[in-house]
Amino acid sequence: MENEKVTMEKIVSLAKRRGFVYQGSEIYGGMAGMYDFGPYGTELLNNIKSEWWKENVHHRDNYFGLDSAMFKEPRVWEASGHTSSFSDPLSECKKCNTRLRVDKELEKIGIKADEKMTEDELDALFTANRDKIKCPKCGGKDFTPVRAFNLLVKTNMGDFTGKNEQPAYLPGEACQGIYLNFKNIVDTTRAKVPFGIAQIGKAFRNEISPRNFLFRTREFEQADTQYFVRPNENKEAYEKIKEDRFNWYVSLGIKKENLRWKQHDRLAFYAKDAWDIEYDFPTGFDEIEGIHDRTDYDLTQHMKYSGTDLRYTDPQTSEKYVPWILETSAGLGRMFLAFMCDAYQEEKVGDEIRTVLKISPRLSPVKVAVFPLLKNKPELVSKAREVYESLNKQFRVEWDDNGNVGKRYRRQDEIGTPYCVTVDFDTLNDQAVTVRDRDTMKQERIEIEKLPEYLKGKFS
Ligand code: GAP
Repeated sequence: MENEKVTMEKIVSLAKRRGFVYQGSEIYGGMAGMYDFGPYGTELLNNIKSEWWKENVHHRDNYFGLDSAMFKEPRVWEASGHTSSFSDPLSECKKCNTRLRVDKELEKIGIKADEKMTEDELDALFTANRDKIKCPKCGGKDFTPVRAFNLLVKTNMGDFTGKNEQPAYLPGEACQGIYLNFKNIVDTTRAKVPFGIAQIGKAFRNEISPRNFLFRTREFEQADTQYFVRPNENKEAYEKIKEDRFNWYVSLGIKKENLRWKQHDRLAFYAKDAWDIEYDFPTGFDEIEGIHDRTDYDLTQHMKYSGTDLRYTDPQTSEKYVPWILETSAGLGRMFLAFMCDAYQEEKVGDEIRTVLKISPRLSPVKVAVFPLLKNKPELVSKAREVYESLNKQFRVEWDDNGNVGKRYRRQDEIGTPYCVTVDFDTLNDQAVTVRDRDTMKQERIEIEKLPEYLKGKFS
C-alpha cells in the first residue's frame, strides 16, 4: 500500500475534502481550467512561494526581486512573438463541436507531436491518423482542418471606443515584465552582469483543453528567474542553474526517482537550448519547470519595438552589449500538485488505513496542532489554550478540540501537520505535554517551557 502510486482522483478528493483546492465558480457549475485555493491550499501555496523566493532572491546576493504590472503596452506581446506564434493546434468535431488539441490527441495514440510543429506538419500527421482518432465526447470521426489557435487572452483594458482595435492582453507568460524592467533594475540597483531578476506572477492562456486538475489550467502562476550573462558566457551558468533547480525540489522532499530531465528536441523560436524538469504525476512524467537558454532574443526584440537602448555597459571596460538570458520558469500549480502527489501516502495502522501527507515541514500548511485531551474539562482547555497562545506567534498553529484524539490525529495527518501537542491530566502536575510525530507516530513528553525551542529545532 505504501508504495502504490497515488491516483489523481485521490488527490483531487483530498484537495476538495480538506479545503486545499476548489473548482473555480463551483456554485455556478464550475468554469473550465479555473481553480480556487482554499484555506490550507493558500497556506501551502504561500509556503512554496516563500521557499522559492528565499532560494532565488534572499539566499543569493546577485538576484533582485520584482513584481511587475500584469497589463503591458500591447506592443510588448508583438515584440515577444506571442501575437504571431503563441498558438496550439486546434480541430473541432463536426458532429458535436468539441474542440480537440491535436498534438495531445496524437500523443494519446502514441504519436509524438511536438508542441512546436507547424500547422501544416500537424495537419498532415492528423490526417494520416484520422482513422485511429475519435471525438472524446461523441465518438465522431469527422473533424475540421487543423488550425493554429492563439492562446493569448484579449481584454478591453483602456479601450473607451468600444472598437478595441489595439487590445491589451492578459500576460501569456509572467517573464515579460522582467525584460521590461531590465534597464530600471540596472539603473537603480548595484546589479552587475552576471545577475538575475526573480518574479512570481500570473499567466493566462486560452488552453484548448485544460486537463489533469492543476496541471493545465487557463489561469496560473509562474515563478521565474532570468539570469543575464555576457554573450557566449552561457554554458557553465546554464549547467549550474539546472543543477540548482533540480536540487531545490529534492531539498523540499520530492523523491529523486520521481524527477527526471527532458531536453527539448524542437526549440522555440527564441531558444538555443531548453530542458524540462519532469515529475512523475499520477498521469505519468510531465513538465513542472522549463530551463531555457534564450540568448539575446528578448532584449533585442524589446529594443527593436520600443526604440529604447537596452544594451548593458560594462562598468570596467565601457563595452556595450545585449546580455544573453538564462531562464527558469515553473508553474506554481504544477509544483503544488507535485508536492501533494509526492507526499500522499496511505498506511495501514491496526485495522485502519490512515491517509497522511508526508510533506516537508517547511511546506506544511499547519506546523503544529494543539489539543486539550477532553474539551469538557475547563482546566485542560485553559492549559491547552496557554500552550496554543505561547506557540502561535512563532508557528502556524491550529487549535482542535473536536472528537477524540485519534480522530484529531487523522485530520492533521491528512493535511500534513508534522507535530500534534496534547495537553492531558498529567500536564497539570508535570507541566509537560505529549508531542506526536506525524511520520513515525511516536510520542514524546516535552516540558511546556522547552516546547518552542524543541519545535524550532525540528523546523530548522
Ligand atoms: N517564460 C517561459 C514559459 O512561459 P512555458 O514552458 O510555456 O515557458 C513555464 O511555461 C511553466 O509554466 C511550465 O513548466 C509549467 O509549469 C507552467 N505552465 C505552462 N502552461 C501552463 C498551464 N496551462 N497550466 C498550468 N501551468 C502551466
